[in-house]
Amino acid sequence: MIALNVNGKRYDVDVDPDTPLLWAIRDVIGLTGTKFGCGIALCGACTVHVDGKATRSCSTPVSAAVGKRITTIEAVGATPAGKKIQQAWIDLEVPQCGYCQSGQIMSATALLTAKPTPTDRDIDAAMSGNICRCGTYARIREGIKRAAQGSANDKKGA
Ligand code: FES
Ligand code: FES
Repeated sequence: MIALNVNGKRYDVDVDPDTPLLWAIRDVIGLTGTKFGCGIALCGACTVHVDGKATRSCSTPVSAAVGKRITTIEAVGATPAGKKIQQAWIDLEVPQCGYCQSGQIMSATALLTAKPTPTDRDIDAAMSGNICRCGTYARIREGIKRAAQGSANDKKGA
């Protein structure tokens, strides 16, 4: 058994240590919001946070996540940045088919947490590994900026 901390809860999963974290999250734990796209760290659909860092769960062995905080799309809205990103996604109707959007939100949230007011270059660097077959890139960028605006206003009000 391998103990994983997912969304603040402990799960004991009966898998090989080299099993991709994505399979443990989806198939064993049953949190299916995280998606499988390419399986080789090229599309970003499977992005989760490991200790707050955007991580491709399809190519991360379970053993590498032991003792770390794993956050998935199901709980990211409980974080300040995740809440802002999700609200911006709703306001701007960012998703089209939606398949890539869990990963987009996870990457965008990690960015906003690290850099509350990211530049265009920061956004490009953080989001370039997240592919959207529906081409929602312009709305994603707008959504990040809107969420960042919320962060900037928070700061002013603080
Ligand atoms: S499924 Fe992990 S990056 Fe594509
Ligand atoms: S919204 Fe369809 S793949 Fe991104």
